[in-house]
Amino acid sequence: MELRGKLLDVSGLKVSFYTYRGVIKALDGVEMWMDSGERLGVVGETGCGKSVTSLAVMRLIEQPGEIQAGRVIFNGKSLLELPEEGMNRVRGGEMSMIFQEPRSALNPVMKVGFQIGEAIAKAKKISIKKTYPEAKEMLRLVGLDPDRVLNSYPHELSGGMSQRVMIGMGLATHPKLLIADEPTSALDVTIQAQILELLDELARKMGNAVLLITHDMGVVAEFCDKVMVMYAGHSVEYASTVRLFEKPMHPYTGGLLLAVPRVGRTDELKAIKGTVPDLVDPPPGCRFHPRCPHVMELCRTSKPPLIQVEPGHYVACYLYGDKKEVREDV
Ligand SMILES: Nc1ncnc2c1ncn2[C@@H]1O[C@H](COP(=O)(O)OP(=O)(O)OP(=O)(O)O)[C@@H](O)[C@H]1O
Ligand SMILES: [Mg+2]
Repeated sequence: MELRGKLLDVSGLKVSFYTYRGVIKALDGVEMWMDSGERLGVVGETGCGKSVTSLAVMRLIEQPGEIQAGRVIFNGKSLLELPEEGMNRVRGGEMSMIFQEPRSALNPVMKVGFQIGEAIAKAKKISIKKTYPEAKEMLRLVGLDPDRVLNSYPHELSGGMSQRVMIGMGLATHPKLLIADEPTSALDVTIQAQILELLDELARKMGNAVLLITHDMGVVAEFCDKVMVMYAGHSVEYASTVRLFEKPMHPYTGGLLLAVPRVGRTDELKAIKGTVPDLVDPPPGCRFHPRCPHVMELCRTSKPPLIQVEPGHYVACYLYGDKKEVREDV
């Protein structure tokens, strides 16, 4: 079995949600991979499946959702085949996650110190009492005053402070991979920059990889080594950040780079006409074809696979490669 990334290799990942409206085909063959210590950005419009991708990698998709196909190899383990207790160990140890709304991830009725202690205790299999020195050290590391924060309730912390706590908790177990789902989009712009700087500094110090989900191409440019562009549950392009900005290949990526970011979120793609498709009844073939200025007959019926078009640069689009050969591949 050949892996494209030594730390993480996700292939053919499909996730559906069974709702009263019908089956939402949220992910339809997501591909991405990472080496140890690398930073991968996952970008795309709202609803394209960024969060579902990260939840599926952590096997946290809940009813009415279901992982239907795919392979997730992480640190030598095939995660979709692990028993639940094995997966639990992965989540509390080698892989951790921080979210957009840090306060909602903390229990409002318990002091922050107890919650940090609990997380460390679980990962290290020690009693909560014994975690105290480590909890203090961790809070110092994320730039907070330990004595104040340990005795606070979550509502007594600002959004930025809460996110610092979450980052500390996420890194307390020295994970190989930290997944950060829009970790700054709920924060003020000045605080956003500080949190990204902190993430950057700590990831460098601890050597962990970061999977960063974001709307903001500016953040990607600053923080990420590689980028995976998603459109409506498909991986449409994967490349080093430098190359993606230099030479975007997928028509959607081109539009994404032209879209003017607003402060905070950049949901609207002014440069690309049309809207994101309804995933209950997605367009056949390439899901981007109804909006694509370069659409060809083949695009309407057949889903283009993600192929390598130059070293390290992959794109899922029939404008590239030998179409005939590609078609036999599908
Ligand atoms: N619990 C759920 N039940 C039903 N549908 C869901 C659920 N979670 C996600 N979906 C659907 O899956 C698709 C992908 O959602 P996802 O949250 O991954 O998007 P996203 O790219 O993270 O968007 P955003 O940028 O707004 O966070 C959407 O169409 C969404 O409606
Ligand atoms: Mg999301």
